[in-house]
Amino acid sequence: MAFFCIFIYMKTEFLLSRRNFINSLSIATGGLLTPAFLNDIYSEDELQILEEFGATEDLTKNEAYWKKIKSFFELDQEIINLNNGGVAPSPSPVMEAVIKYNQIANKIPSYNLYRVLNKGREPLRFKLAELAGCLPEEIAINRNATEALETVIFGLSLNKGDEVVLSRQDYQSMQNAWKQREKRDGIVLKWVDLNLPSEDKSYLINAYKNAFTNKTKIVQITHLINWNGQILPAKEIAVEAKKIGAEVILDAAHSFAQIPFSFSEMNIDYAGVSLHKWLSAPFGTGFLYIEKDKIKKVYPLFAAPDDEEDKITKFEHLGTRSFAIEQAINEAIDFHLKIGIERKSARLFYLKNYWVKKLSKIQGVKILTPNSKEFSAGIALFTLEGFEHATLLNKLYLKYHIHATMINLGNLQGVRISPNVYTLKKDLDLLVDAVKELSKA
Ligand SMILES: Cc1ncc(COP(=O)(O)O)c(C=O)c1O
Repeated sequence: MAFFCIFIYMKTEFLLSRRNFINSLSIATGGLLTPAFLNDIYSEDELQILEEFGATEDLTKNEAYWKKIKSFFELDQEIINLNNGGVAPSPSPVMEAVIKYNQIANKIPSYNLYRVLNKGREPLRFKLAELAGCLPEEIAINRNATEALETVIFGLSLNKGDEVVLSRQDYQSMQNAWKQREKRDGIVLKWVDLNLPSEDKSYLINAYKNAFTNKTKIVQITHLINWNGQILPAKEIAVEAKKIGAEVILDAAHSFAQIPFSFSEMNIDYAGVSLHKWLSAPFGTGFLYIEKDKIKKVYPLFAAPDDEEDKITKFEHLGTRSFAIEQAINEAIDFHLKIGIERKSARLFYLKNYWVKKLSKIQGVKILTPNSKEFSAGIALFTLEGFEHATLLNKLYLKYHIHATMINLGNLQGVRISPNVYTLKKDLDLLVDAVKELSKA
């Protein structure tokens, strides 16, 4: 009930402050932009064509719906982009918002950046918090997951001998950040080496648990592993970490906006998100989540005034940056909500299993990603016997105009496929036909 009340309060606050922001923008721009556009009505109008599909209808396999979704993206017509894992394109309402917000900024940069667009940060914080299932005062808006996670990695006070549990399958930048702390501060890194893919929950939990000692202070978990699309039982691993008094950092770069979950239910203390991945927000947008009571103890990477010591805004003193792309996160959220996370995650999972099932029947193909919804989402990794991964990747691009990416990490070697909401079944049929033809070559 208390949580529900907080959200009613948040929603009212958000609407009020968003309206103030819109009013100040329309005054500042002298009518360059209409309040209607800024109130998201512009993109709402554009998105109206989606209304012909029922809001609660199961549209997972309805290609006509996803074709409409695709019509919002200006894509390269010559290439099928099956690498949306690294960074994803933004739909046109987001691109148009970036242009319009930049036009505002450019009119009187020092005024419109700091006294106009900057005012949009608080309403945006409310909107992001509602999406993430946490409090607005737990979200610092920044540029990407690397910035968010390294802020925590370098901002925590740890002593010589303190232990950090992390995995060889975590993202490279975060591994490097911890290695740097190991060199500088004498902390001890306890490495978990996961044997993936795995649908064995207790194996995955125990892999972490076995690395815990009475010196463990931090446990880092990658929620959805970028190399092969494996989902880890992060919530359960976090419960185990809490039992020994350790704090948990979640790398949610790939899980946020790809699979449904709520930060407040994950038993975690810190998390990092990139919004230019599965939210399709402009490139260079992300956020840092810090559980409210932990904010005070984390030093920001970029120093902040003393009176912000226990405020999440202390992590936002990043210097001059594009407030236009930051504000366009609003339109990316609107677009995402129009589809809905349940529908989106169901579609991505369906697409993954669609091509995986067909590829599995081809002689020499090996899939290195779990099948079930509990352990996988829209990303998967495959190999084709007799092909170096680089050669396979090149052939897919040069001969079949399919863009994917190559993975080279321990036993996770192959070509990674990551479709998006604009991917149609026929795009994946082309991938299947291409691999079939190559397997016979
Ligand atoms: C698991 C994971 N964490 C973090 C990152 C870093 O994301 P960014 O480059 O947006 O900071 C990536 C990027 O692909 C990733 O896959």
